Amino acid sequence: MHTRRIIIAALLSLASAAPAIAQETLKIGLILPMTGQQQSTGKQIDAAVRLFMAQNGDTPTGKKIEILLRDDAGVPDTAKRLAQELIVKDKVIAIAGFGLTPIAMAIAPLATQAKVPMIVMAAATSVITTASPFVVRTSQVLPQPAAAMAKWAADNGIKSAVTLVADYGPGIDAETWFTKGMKDGGGDVTAQLRTPLAAPDFAPVLQRAADAKPQALFAFVPSGQGAALAKQFAERGLDKSGIRFIATGDVTDDDQLNGMGNAMLDVVTAGFYSAAHPSETNKKFVAAFKVANPSMRPNFMAVAGYDGMELLYAALRKRKPARADIDRPRNARRGAQHLYPQSRAGERRTLQRGIRHHPDDEGPGQGGPQAVTTRRC
Ligand code: DHB
Repeated sequence: MHTRRIIIAALLSLASAAPAIAQETLKIGLILPMTGQQQSTGKQIDAAVRLFMAQNGDTPTGKKIEILLRDDAGVPDTAKRLAQELIVKDKVIAIAGFGLTPIAMAIAPLATQAKVPMIVMAAATSVITTASPFVVRTSQVLPQPAAAMAKWAADNGIKSAVTLVADYGPGIDAETWFTKGMKDGGGDVTAQLRTPLAAPDFAPVLQRAADAKPQALFAFVPSGQGAALAKQFAERGLDKSGIRFIATGDVTDDDQLNGMGNAMLDVVTAGFYSAAHPSETNKKFVAAFKVANPSMRPNFMAVAGYDGMELLYAALRKRKPARADIDRPRNARRGAQHLYPQSRAGERRTLQRGIRHHPDDEGPGQGGPQAVTTRRC
């Protein structure tokens, strides 16, 4: 499709004409929440970007790549100002990161105006890739895990559920697609509860969920908020109420999971990544990540950041794509595959269960995330 070609063209322009390319150093703006409520997202992606560069060098085309990391603290206005500075003053050839949907949406018009490729490594509302033809995304979209969870619920005899989501783009996506999936499977969602993105208080909504006595509580909160939700879930005794806790993988984020306590055992979530995935590719990734960051375990944000760098390097190296490469807009996985070098593409697709995102994706794709039961590891 047209959009896909513009993206490919934008990424390819990195390797050719842009005046910035004449510079000795190729600067990439990395805008992340390194402080504030979403800081785990920033730290995970930053660590993964560094790991990728440590493993693959910083001169993919012979010129040095320099990452200009900027902390937006999760605030869209700050992120917008930082993006403007990076584009105008620092003359970056691409911008990357974007920890939250409102940040990605605030910056997308700048990417369009300046014709700067924008690699979204975290924000996960479906609409983001339509906000600018210069956006590519290596993270998920929430309809994918939400629909997978609804299917799991239907397959496991769950007929009634309550949803609890963060009240903004990805939460609404999750709520919409989980509810649709439940109805399609012959069940129902009896209450749709929402919590504010900033400083959420889960106690009142958890009480309402408990009072509604559904068979399952389905939740989405952004990465980093799962531990607080888990704590209050246990404190209110919901883990012993007989209500099944199911969620998107954002809730049982690997960065926080081991600190969440026994209340999270047997919680079922769907997502595109688990640090416990037994593939050789993943074992190597997790081991290398831990060596470089001894106090951390990689989560899905880290993988999306790593993938974003892989995409960037591949685009920089690829000056002249074969026509066939840019002519496969309908298949998300194949569409992205050409950006990935050699056989690793196949391995990584297996690792991520085919959730590789594409601008043409709306809603859940084939072979998307699977429901998994949480176990301590
Ligand atoms: C978004 C942020 C997250 O941390 C997450 O896990 C999912 C989505 C977002 O703002 O789009």
